[in-house]
Amino acid sequence: MSERAKQRAKVTFEGVSKSFDQRGGILDVLEDIDLTVADGEFVCLLGPSGCGKSTLLNIVGGFERPTAGRVTIDGVEVEGPDARRVFVFQEYGIFPWASAWDNIALGLRHLPRSEREEIVQRTIDMVGLSGFESAYPMELSGGMKQRVEVARALAVSPDVIYMDEPFGALDSLTRLTMRSEIIRIWQQERNTILFVTHDVDESIQIADRIVVFTPRPGRVAEIVEVGLEHPRDLGSPEYGEIKNRLYELLGVRHVI
Ligand SMILES: Nc1ncnc2c1ncn2[C@@H]1O[C@H](COP(=O)(O)OP(=O)(O)OP(=O)(O)O)[C@@H](O)[C@H]1O
Ligand SMILES: [Mg+2]
Repeated sequence: MSERAKQRAKVTFEGVSKSFDQRGGILDVLEDIDLTVADGEFVCLLGPSGCGKSTLLNIVGGFERPTAGRVTIDGVEVEGPDARRVFVFQEYGIFPWASAWDNIALGLRHLPRSEREEIVQRTIDMVGLSGFESAYPMELSGGMKQRVEVARALAVSPDVIYMDEPFGALDSLTRLTMRSEIIRIWQQERNTILFVTHDVDESIQIADRIVVFTPRPGRVAEIVEVGLEHPRDLGSPEYGEIKNRLYELLGVRHVI
């Protein structure tokens, strides 16, 4: 039995398909997705624009219903959003009128003040925003705003985190930093993470496994096991091999 098979299944997709009615026609977006994500696993969903990645996250997040098939978390079918699971989008999710501290504390209003303060401080430290507690989003850089977004998600101790191209708006250097930060935090917290990207390098740098989708209607083309220790050597032959395989699956030649 493989190591993964011994781990507990956290999220399962069984024969998930999704079609939308669009101006009288039917648009098939996802077709027969089967996938099991282990507890504490970091999985990237990689595929071309429009193949249904965000739709799949919306389905597992409980915001959309599949047309066919089902999704379970801890063996329970997903039927709507659940506060134990959070989304991280690009930076636009944070409130401009609230300080970094207040943005992060938003999901903790039900907790006693002392507990709330302890959690906010801990997550602020975790994402490297100490000293910026009272800053407003307009006073923060893009990368710092994204840290607020990540901290707000972590503050509620989610068991599953859905990330939809969370670093897409950042410059390439900040993206690199944020990737290693998210890995450091994940190694500490061990949440299950489903991370959407269409960036091949990003997926190899962070994921345990990469689910590669076909163009719409999105089907699973292949699931690629990364199998490299963190921190990863981006110049290693193994890295290059995985990269070639992913480009091949995506039907792109990257050799010039
Ligand atoms: N609520 C909706 N109603 C109708 N069509 C939708 C809806 N949501 C998504 N779609 C369609 O489903 C397809 C997949 O969209 P989705 O946003 O899931 O793609 P994606 O893989 O996340 O793309 P990108 O990488 O560009 O973000 C698109 O053609 C889109 O027009
Ligand atoms: Mg998308």
